[in-house]
Amino acid sequence: MCGIFGYIGFRKATPLLIEGLRQMEYRGYDSAGVCLSEKNGLKAVKAKGRVGELVKKAANQDLASTIGIAHTRWATHGAPSEKNAHPHLDCQGDIAVVHNGIIENYQALKKILEKEGHCFVSETDSEVISHLIEKFSEGASFEGAVLKTLKILQGTFGLAVVKAGEDKIIGARKGSPFILGLGDGEMFLASDASAILKYTKKVVYLDDGEMVTIGKDGFLTRKLNGEVSEKEVCELKWNAEQIEKGGFKHFMLKEIFEQPQAVANTLRGRLASDTVKLSVDIDAKAVNRIVIMACGTSFYSGLIGKQLIEKFCRVRVDVEYASEFRYRDPIVDKDDLAVVISQSGETADTLAALKEAKERGAKTLGIVNVVGSTIAREVDCGIYLHAGPEISVAATKAFTCQIAALALLTAFLQEQRTGRADPEFLRELAGLPEKIQDILDHPQEISKIAEVFRKTRNALYLGRGFNYPLALEGALKLKETSYIHAEGYPAAEMKHGPIALIDENMPAVFIATKDQTYEKILSNMQEIKARGGRILAIVNPRDKEASNLADWIIETPVVMECLSPMVNVVPLQLLAYYVADAKGIDVDKPRNLAKSVTVE
Ligand code: AGP
Ligand code: GLU
Repeated sequence: MCGIFGYIGFRKATPLLIEGLRQMEYRGYDSAGVCLSEKNGLKAVKAKGRVGELVKKAANQDLASTIGIAHTRWATHGAPSEKNAHPHLDCQGDIAVVHNGIIENYQALKKILEKEGHCFVSETDSEVISHLIEKFSEGASFEGAVLKTLKILQGTFGLAVVKAGEDKIIGARKGSPFILGLGDGEMFLASDASAILKYTKKVVYLDDGEMVTIGKDGFLTRKLNGEVSEKEVCELKWNAEQIEKGGFKHFMLKEIFEQPQAVANTLRGRLASDTVKLSVDIDAKAVNRIVIMACGTSFYSGLIGKQLIEKFCRVRVDVEYASEFRYRDPIVDKDDLAVVISQSGETADTLAALKEAKERGAKTLGIVNVVGSTIAREVDCGIYLHAGPEISVAATKAFTCQIAALALLTAFLQEQRTGRADPEFLRELAGLPEKIQDILDHPQEISKIAEVFRKTRNALYLGRGFNYPLALEGALKLKETSYIHAEGYPAAEMKHGPIALIDENMPAVFIATKDQTYEKILSNMQEIKARGGRILAIVNPRDKEASNLADWIIETPVVMECLSPMVNVVPLQLLAYYVADAKGIDVDKPRNLAKSVTVE
């Protein structure tokens, strides 16, 4: 998710545009750019990297205009570079667009436009917008050309457009945020209010499917069918820092609550009712074995990926700690598919393991969030998460989106190897954003339970099958955010030693949702109960048996067993968050940790 900003008024636009980008840099920082509507036409300045790089480039440019648009990018299509930086212009350089979102039908549109003679300079999806407006400008007004363009775009957009000779900015919104700030003789537009707050608290929120024409003294909103729409002027209540976190106290909580949208973005354009579309060049029939390599949370999502792929594709999958794999003179050859999972795409051990596998002839696939990152550039092919920036050190939406991406890969491989993907699996996968939303809409008593865990010094997390890796992830979340020693185990493993730890000071967290090992989990809970242990159980709604054995319960919706980690993880994330917050820890930056471990 990137940030767009626009200004039209009586002041020089450039300083305001730059300040607006600085306020939204947390939304993405791969590249930045501005475009000014000067007397003699449009003037665009763009730079790879952070806003500071743009400032250097703009310093010696004569940018006097009072109308301009700006963009700080979180790349989804096309690596971070100056040529992929927004704004994107049409062939004549008379139309400039900044865009937040994903244009799903951009390849088809780009083919048509290229056939009609349009020349593209970037690899992005967004550039089609400026060329479409150019195409529809023949004999049409600025508004008319934009409206026609918006009607054929599929996917999501929050966008702003300027045109040479036009004393206005046009904006539009569908699935990405867009807010208008009303000043006195000046107007502002932005992806979020943090960029507007210092100038005005009077705002108008555009709704999905609306377009707005903005002059320095006013604005006019229309629906995409051309009808004028009346808008309410609201008063901003938050301060700038609150707005950057979307009103959440920490980025970790914001990113936990972003998961429905983030998982929907991972699936967007890839998941149909009976098939999966992945642009990965893999011949599944030629794959003899898959080796997954990753670190930390990404390693745990890899353990779930192993069980998914082996269940549906009957291909052997080994999961390796990247840091171990690379020093073990591993057995890898050209019939293996090496899958590396990394949110940042910069983890040194994972990168080194990837290179090791490549040198030994394996085909490589990356499951990465940061577009254009080192690992993303190193693999033969990949699946981007499109989860948006994950700022908090603790991985949350990255984990659920990694499992979603592994589920897509599973279905893709299954379809290639057997002729069809399991339709029930695809249906369940498509419904997961809603199931995750359902938990977030009813956070239950988690913050109260966190009060109890706040005082504990140790904890055990126990699960079986698909939820065993989840026990490991839940323990890691508590460890790394609240400094409480927590261990994850296969629930059955308790009898082989760890149960000696059980007493009233060692709470156990059971993932006890209904699956093929449910009865066994109940027995494990009994064993702990019988020794005076206290239990928090993640259960399905109205599950009396498990609930009667637990001291505390958190309910999660019923989901196909193999996808249940994507919902069962949410209470574990929230528990870790509330415990850390209750302990007064800087949740987003826990001690000793970094968001990306780029050292070995
Ligand atoms: C997870 O909460 C931690 N931040 C850490 O274990 C992380 O998952 C690990 O460092 C791997 O990072 P990556 O996914 O960016 O490679
Ligand atoms: N899809 C556009 C690009 O990759 C915009 C990305 C975004 O909204 O972050 O440039």
